[in-house]
Amino acid sequence: MRKKAQSVALLPFDADKFETRAILKKEAQARQVLAELKGFAPVIPNQDILINAISLQEARESSAIENIVTTEDELYKNMTSVPPETDSSAKEVINYRKAVYMGCQMLQKRHLISVNDIVKIQETIIENNAGIRRLPGTSLVNSTTNEIIYTPPQDYQEIKVLLDNFCAYMNNEEDSLWKMAVLHYQFETIHPFYDGNGRTGRILNVLYLILKHHLDTPILYLSSYIIKAKNTYYALLQEVREKNNWDNWILYILDGIEQTSKHTLKKIKAIRNLLESTLYNVQTACPKIYSKELVEIVFENPYSKIDFLVNKLNINRKTASKYLKELEANNFLTHIQAGKETLYINTALMDLLKQ
Ligand SMILES: Nc1ncnc2c1ncn2[C@@H]1O[C@H](COP(=O)(O)OP(=O)(O)O)[C@@H](O)[C@H]1O
Ligand SMILES: [Mg+2]
Repeated sequence: MRKKAQSVALLPFDADKFETRAILKKEAQARQVLAELKGFAPVIPNQDILINAISLQEARESSAIENIVTTEDELYKNMTSVPPETDSSAKEVINYRKAVYMGCQMLQKRHLISVNDIVKIQETIIENNAGIRRLPGTSLVNSTTNEIIYTPPQDYQEIKVLLDNFCAYMNNEEDSLWKMAVLHYQFETIHPFYDGNGRTGRILNVLYLILKHHLDTPILYLSSYIIKAKNTYYALLQEVREKNNWDNWILYILDGIEQTSKHTLKKIKAIRNLLESTLYNVQTACPKIYSKELVEIVFENPYSKIDFLVNKLNINRKTASKYLKELEANNFLTHIQAGKETLYINTALMDLLKQ
């Protein structure tokens, strides 16, 4: 039986119900670790190392929530080798990270997020321009029982009004973290696209954190937390709708911010330590080819190739090849063959990223 679309309430909802003691306490804890993360991130002087690595991890996990599954190795290989092997999952994951970067650029320019920006983000992930839903028929289905659990608004004009309202609320001056939970619920409830709503919504979460200056760069993501208990995520969203149970949903998201901030802090520390020891060890073992930039390249790109060195270090192919081979001879890299291309893997970094 097809359920009728429910009408979706406009934001803001009554803030009193979000500021219970338990929520305010959890909000304070989450804010504290998030601030620590924001303050600590600059210990890695080349921020691209961090952003590349962490956002790719997120791209993989957020896509995995939607059953698009790849390994890190597959991803890096697809990004590095030319022509790209057309593994469609890897492609969608790489698109996801592209969409994160694009979102950040849009934010930097205008310090707000518009409906148009959201449409572009979804377009980038899905690689089509169907845009906001115009045809009825979209509903959320329980994947085991096939039962319809929720039918989002079906009318194009109504969806547009809801999205305008969503953006107005997102961009207003209120900057609490619980608001991110409210926004994520609302976005998934509007479900404005045929596909990609989950992933677009999770990208909006990190953009919100940057918009409200909780972070400077896109390095905190909840997907690793969500994927540990995916059904909880779905069930809590549904409980807000059916039982008005906001507390558990908001506490769940705040706990996600707290836990993933801690986890990300650890990861940054590990990357920093590995980078520092590698800088030292390359300098000692390969003093003739050593430069800080060279080591940073193989950290920015855990899978490297000759072209990367040619472009960044302004050296010729022969020299670049010599550098990579020498790094491999000293156990800093391991090569694999991808078609005609030789890729050099920073295995220590890859091991760390996979943990
Ligand atoms: N009961 C629910 N109420 C609202 N949103 C839900 C519910 N269950 C799942 N969702 C959201 O819908 C997303 C899936 O929508 P979909 O358009 O397929 O996104 P994607 O293509 O990124 O998978 C989930 O990740 C989740 O965010
Ligand atoms: Mg989907």
